[in-house]
Order: sequence, then C-alpha cells, then structure tokens
Amino acid sequence: MPTPDMRRAMATAPLGDDVFGDDPMVNRLEEMAAERLGKEAAVFVASGTMGNLVGVAVNARTGEELIADADSHVFQYESAGAAVVAGVQIRPVVTEGGVMSPEQIAEVIRPRDDPHQPISAAITFEDTHNRHGGVVWPLESLRAAFESAHAHRLRVHLDGARMFNAAVALGVGVADIAACSDTVTFCLSKGLACPAGSVFCGPREAVDDARRWRKRLGGGMRQAGVLAACGVIALDQMVDRLAEDHANARTLAEGLSEMPGVTCDLTRVQTNLVYFDLGGIDAAPFTAECKKRGLLSEGTGPKRMRFVTHYGIDAQDIQAALKICEEVLTA
Ligand SMILES: Cc1ncc(COP(=O)(O)O)c(C=O)c1O
Repeated sequence: MPTPDMRRAMATAPLGDDVFGDDPMVNRLEEMAAERLGKEAAVFVASGTMGNLVGVAVNARTGEELIADADSHVFQYESAGAAVVAGVQIRPVVTEGGVMSPEQIAEVIRPRDDPHQPISAAITFEDTHNRHGGVVWPLESLRAAFESAHAHRLRVHLDGARMFNAAVALGVGVADIAACSDTVTFCLSKGLACPAGSVFCGPREAVDDARRWRKRLGGGMRQAGVLAACGVIALDQMVDRLAEDHANARTLAEGLSEMPGVTCDLTRVQTNLVYFDLGGIDAAPFTAECKKRGLLSEGTGPKRMRFVTHYGIDAQDIQAALKICEEVLTA
C-alpha cells in the first residue's frame, strides 16, 4: 500500500506523456534506478512480469533457449510469456535454494554446432528467490554464476523483483547485486510499497530495445508519472525499512514453527517471506478462516502456505497474526 507521502506525490506530480519521453517523474525514476543499480539506463514497466518478459525478449531470440531455475517465477508464474510472446524456450534447472552453481550451468549449455538443439542464449537468476522461501543468493555464488554464464556466452537477466530485500539482508549495495547481471528487473510494488510498477535496467541498447518491447506489449503508459512519483519516494525512503519486514518475518516464522502440525524451515526465512507447511488442516480452509479474522495469506500448495510481511505491518500485528493462526489451527 502506498505511503501518505506517495499519495501526496501522486496528487502533485508534474506530468507529461511518457511514450514521448516527456514525463518528468518517469524520467527521474528511470535515472535514479539506473544510478542506484549501476546500470547505463532504465525503463519503467507495468509489472515485474512485464520486466522479466522484456528481459527474455532482449536477451534471447525466437527459437533460442533461456536457462532458469525450475522454481523461478519466470518459469512457474508468467503464463509462459517467454514461449508465447518471445518464442523462447525455457530450460528449467532443479536447484538447491535457487542457487545455480557454475557446474550446473556448464551441464545445461547446448553445443552450438548441433542443429538439432536450440542455442543457449541467456540465463536468469532470481534474487531473492520467491518459491525457495525468499532466500538470498550469497554474493560470491551469484558472482560465480554470472562469470560462469558469461564464460559460456550467455547473457544474464536478473529477476530482482525483491533485490532490495536481498541487498538489505546481505548489508550490501543493490549495485553489488546488479553487477552480477547484464539486465535486471526490480519491483516497486512489493516491499517498496508502490501501488504498481517495476523498472528494467541494463545497457542503453538493451533498454532501448526493452522500450520497444514495452510498447509492443501495450505497456506504453501515458501520464505514468502518477505512478513513477511513488517509485521516486520508494527509492528514497522505503529501502532501509525493509529490515523491519525481515525482523517481523522471523518473529512470525519462529512463532508459527511452535504451533501444532506446522513445519517451517527457519533457515530459509531470510527476508520478508514466510513459507510453512500445515499438518492437519489444508491450505484452502486455513486461508479462508484466517481471512475471516482479518489475516491475509496465500496457499501455494495443498498444505503449503505463504505469509508476506510489509510496510503497514508492525510487531504488534505479528503477534495478532500469530494469535489468529493458533486459533485457526486449534479450532
Ligand atoms: C520473483 C518474482 N518475480 C517477478 C514477479 C512478478 O511481479 P508482478 O506481480 O509485478 O508481475 C514476482 C511476483 O510475485 C516475483 O515474486
């Protein structure tokens, strides 16, 4: 949910037509994002999904292959956009915690001289990794994977939807993480609390290409400065506070793991996501009962649940959430 400052900024933002490059807030956001991530240029896109799709399209051509973790958002949750829109095949790789080792990368590279096989053109990493529990890539592992990918002539797109969470958790600058990619998408609409929007960053040529893809996908928004204004505030004010979300997630996970039938791998609770498994009750009735009591959650499997901590949820809310969970689990 947007902050009061964001709501005010939306109301007063100077606006122009962004498709013509004339929206001052969008231009400012793009400049800020590129600078923060240490990339040449950036383009504001509608969503993380659009940013990733554009990332696939600029890094691989029709008929080529993109290597991705088997549990990645790109492979699992983007409606096969890579295949349908970009004509790119995804090669899923099963990993431990979303981290791909140089050996794993080497194993799936296709020989370039075999016409039976598609060309391995690009690879995508996800940091933090959603389906693996919001886990953070150790920076050395990400760097090693990036270097290995380049050694195999792969272009690297980082799905950094929650990369600011990763940076805060590691205590490094977001540019250190972005440096392990050619192109990168991050979301403003998740922990950074904007109502909508993501930013795709990379070399100028890739961003120019991405801008064309954005238009093609119907993502050329006109007075998009009302949204970008929130993004500017997000980058200025909402990054450091992510540490609170991480602390709240940990308290929530520790409390949940003491409840009857609940299993939660605490080693994976590194940022703002809490995945856990239910014992007796299924995810659907658990979600419904929690919702009746004002607690929103998401079932991600028959008995698998996900909670997310974010701006607007404080330590007291976590205690209230734990009380609701206990009530539902013991009813
Ligand atoms: C890792 C990851 N990448 C990309 C996305 C897509 O973002 P959006 O919902 O803005 O399309 C999500 C959304 O949950 C995500 O978790």
